[in-house]
Amino acid sequence: MKGPQPTPWLQEIPLYSPGISKQTIRDMHGVAQPIKLASNENALGPSPEALKAISNFKEELHLYPDPHSSLLRNAAAHFFTCSPDRIIAGNGSDEIFDLICRAFIQPNDKVLIPEITFSYYRIASMACGAQVLFTKMSQDQAIDTKSIEQAFALDAKIVFIANPNNPTGKYLKRDELLHLLEITPKQTLIVIDEAYASFARADDFLSALDLLEEYQNLIVAKTLSKSHGLAGLRVGFGMAQEQLLESLLRIKPPFNVNMLAEKAGAAALSDTPFLTRTLETTWEGLDYFYTQFDRLGLEYVPSQTNFVLLRIGRNARDVYQELLRRGIITRYMNAPELKDYIRITTGLPHENQAFITALEDVL
Ligand SMILES: Cc1ncc(COP(=O)(O)O)c(C=O)c1O
Repeated sequence: MKGPQPTPWLQEIPLYSPGISKQTIRDMHGVAQPIKLASNENALGPSPEALKAISNFKEELHLYPDPHSSLLRNAAAHFFTCSPDRIIAGNGSDEIFDLICRAFIQPNDKVLIPEITFSYYRIASMACGAQVLFTKMSQDQAIDTKSIEQAFALDAKIVFIANPNNPTGKYLKRDELLHLLEITPKQTLIVIDEAYASFARADDFLSALDLLEEYQNLIVAKTLSKSHGLAGLRVGFGMAQEQLLESLLRIKPPFNVNMLAEKAGAAALSDTPFLTRTLETTWEGLDYFYTQFDRLGLEYVPSQTNFVLLRIGRNARDVYQELLRRGIITRYMNAPELKDYIRITTGLPHENQAFITALEDVL
């Protein structure tokens, strides 16, 4: 007899492939101290203020957390200069994408996603029965607003944009972002995911948060997983005008942000020295990588994030495997367009140096 059957569209969803953990490398290759430069985590660890907050509140774990995450939303409002009434907090920004899809997608609705981007948009959309349409990248693997504009003719419900983008590290310039928002039909929800925006150094990078007032169909997503070092606790935000936000709040699980995540998230948002150190470490790491890649004659994609895409060539997968054997965990990209590349997150200076030494050894 057949058991319970999931929705028919569930079978089509590709499995998410996470970065390899340090423990796996210890077990597989017997490396005592592997270096993980694979998941765009914060090289400095968690914010010290967040750690203090966790010890202060751990005695209260028998209580339910605040369903409104007020402390956290107020801290986010202060940090991002945005009204707390326009912020929803989530169990990571992944949950924000889930809420958006659950609130807005009916089976067979169309969702536009650039061909090369963060994979969870697709999973969240398909879980709600959406028909996902991939828009083309430009020749240099940037998000192509022309391809998105053409696809708008198909009456899309949502378009997801990571700015800066993962895994390319590229970004939409100010004018491109403004143009994209202008051409997005009023009935299409545009989600701008700014997971890496704190790392952007380009003068013409513009946060879509500055445009929230003007667009009723805009949701901006943020996360504390990268710049604030809280990937393991899961804290993310969605920012939008009240009308859109209300739809997400209606279906939000009441206690979606756990107590420690709320307290630690609020503390991390006010930990300015930690953020300053994070940005300095990241930018120094990127600049070091660029210098070394230039020295080695390797092509790379200049990045506005905390990782960089490096072109290895046809043997990229083998190089990735060899690095693993030496205890260096990077990310091999499965997308056919990126089969010649590996993605490396910036680490601490000694980790970055160890990666370059291993890379030279392998090449
Ligand atoms: C572009 C992008 N958005 C969102 C996320 C996930 O963020 P969170 O940890 O808040 O779910 C990632 C994680 O790698 C990402 O690369």
